[in-house]
Amino acid sequence: MKHQAVEGFSKLSKEGKIEWVVNEYLNGDEKAIDIFKQYWNDDADLQKLHDEFSENTISNFYMPFGLAPNFLINDELYTIPMAVEESSVVAAASKAAKFWLTRGGFKTTVLSTTKLGHVHFMFEGDFEQLKNAFEKKIKNQLIEDTNDITKNMRSRNGGILNLELIDKTSDLENYYQIKGSFETVDSMGANFINSCLEQFAKTLKNEIELDNNFTQEDKNSLQIVMCILSNYTPDCIVRAEVSCPVEQLADGNVSAEEFVEKFSRAVRIAEIEPYRATTHNKGIMNGIDSVVIATGNDFRAVEACAHTYATKDGSYSSLTHCEVKDGIFRFWIDLPTALGTIGGLTALHPLVKLALAILGKPSAKELMGFVAVAGLAQNFAALSSLVTTGIQKGHMKMHLMNILNQLEATEEEKHYFTTFFKDKTVTHHNVIEEFCRHRGVESVEELKK
Ligand code: MEV
Repeated sequence: MKHQAVEGFSKLSKEGKIEWVVNEYLNGDEKAIDIFKQYWNDDADLQKLHDEFSENTISNFYMPFGLAPNFLINDELYTIPMAVEESSVVAAASKAAKFWLTRGGFKTTVLSTTKLGHVHFMFEGDFEQLKNAFEKKIKNQLIEDTNDITKNMRSRNGGILNLELIDKTSDLENYYQIKGSFETVDSMGANFINSCLEQFAKTLKNEIELDNNFTQEDKNSLQIVMCILSNYTPDCIVRAEVSCPVEQLADGNVSAEEFVEKFSRAVRIAEIEPYRATTHNKGIMNGIDSVVIATGNDFRAVEACAHTYATKDGSYSSLTHCEVKDGIFRFWIDLPTALGTIGGLTALHPLVKLALAILGKPSAKELMGFVAVAGLAQNFAALSSLVTTGIQKGHMKMHLMNILNQLEATEEEKHYFTTFFKDKTVTHHNVIEEFCRHRGVESVEELKK
């Protein structure tokens, strides 16, 4: 069926939007209306809060909010809240936390917290003249004209750190930038940076206009293309690491030396092979995104930054690294990431507030550490399984519950099947087959009758 464009959709009530989508896209299915409404919160104020996070909201989309306990980080014990739908992520994080709990735990160091933004502009006049004007007058004026915007941030020891004029004409004709470096303390800083940049653009235009050293032609040629922060923040970076004597790494059936050799090789492969690096880093992001989401931060920004950083040496590579030196195994991640513990959702979403409280109301710097630890732990757990037992053993056990839920298994059946598959291989096919046998039916279709 071909659909009609809709006018004034945003002005419809929530009920009206549901009615529209159900009639237009879901064949008028009354059950769909019930499902959308089933996810509404009974508390009308709480529901309104969620509705207003975004636009055209018709329901809530639940995500499991879990806890990974026993994380020893910089000699303090933490429980890390994680919001993630993928089974086994929280279990893997908890397993890695417990492993390192008795081996010195995780250490984190924030290497720097500088964030960046650019005014991208075109200019056809002389660069040397522009540079001269920038250094002599414009730069100071940019700072002065943003004094009102930066006042609060300056009182928290943040603000504009540096301003540079960048010549990009070798990449694109007539293209220049004002590159701003910022310290945004405990806020992610997007609004602050973008407000400063938009003021920079106005000031730049004004200053060039008033400067009689530029010809009218030069003045007319100045065009602001855009003003926007960069989500690539290679100088807002945290390191998380674990280390212990090699002999402490013996794991079940595998000797410590064998484990380290296999593990190090897996990291090396991710360092040199982009196909593997992508999956390796995806596993790291399982941990990182879960904490970023639970703490109300922007996981798309964190993802974009991490992947750009992973290409910094010319080809896509691992975010984690390891070495063995003088009998000590060391495994670490350097993660550039811009996070906030004030502003945005952090003061609005009740679960985000609780997540931050569980972490001890961290500063943005501390949160950078927790996020990097979650990524490193996740990668340690994934590689440990991959190079020893394989990933499917643990994964499919967790996946079993998803399959059973899809089959609408009763609690009793769930108990039966978890015991049944304890010493057997879980595959989708095996579970369905055993489920049908247990229920005494021939096929899944029969179950639905
Ligand atoms: C699955 O979500 C993540 C892994 O594929 C990561 C990895 O292969 O390192 C297990």
